Amino acid sequence: MKILFVCLGNICRSPLAEGILKAKAKTLGLDWQIDSAGTNGYHDGEAPHKFSLNIAANNGIDITDQISKQIIKKDFETYDFIYALAEDVMRDLKRIGGDGFNKNKCRYFLLPNGEKGETDVPDPWFGGEEGFEPVHDIIEKGCEKIIESILKDRN
Ligand code: 4NP
Repeated sequence: MKILFVCLGNICRSPLAEGILKAKAKTLGLDWQIDSAGTNGYHDGEAPHKFSLNIAANNGIDITDQISKQIIKKDFETYDFIYALAEDVMRDLKRIGGDGFNKNKCRYFLLPNGEKGETDVPDPWFGGEEGFEPVHDIIEKGCEKIIESILKDRN
């Protein structure tokens, strides 16, 4: 199973999703490949945001080895699931993926079964450090839902 989490900058939200799902998959003995990327490329080559590093570390997760990268068209073939962390990200995925965009593969992070509901994990980029804790908690719950969603589809 190959999973890609996508936000705008790949420095705040999707690095947390990658780190948290990797930790949960390891605990469950799931041999999944888990990555993250951004749609805008503005932070290519950078480490995650310091407040994402902090909130991850406070929850026992090390994301210091991650490096921001922009999604590329080939990713739409490579991954089994591509999870957009917000609606503007999904719009970018449609544009970047073009004829490679597949709505069964490209799902909202918060709605992994294609259900209706809230699509956006709030972007903590514009606020202070206090914004990162609620975002972490939303992403942690989202990762649990994604595990359930994928394991259910398998059975
Ligand atoms: P992220 O947050 O998408 O959660 O990584 C952002 C980081 C940087 C920018 C936007 C969102 N930016 O425009 O530089």
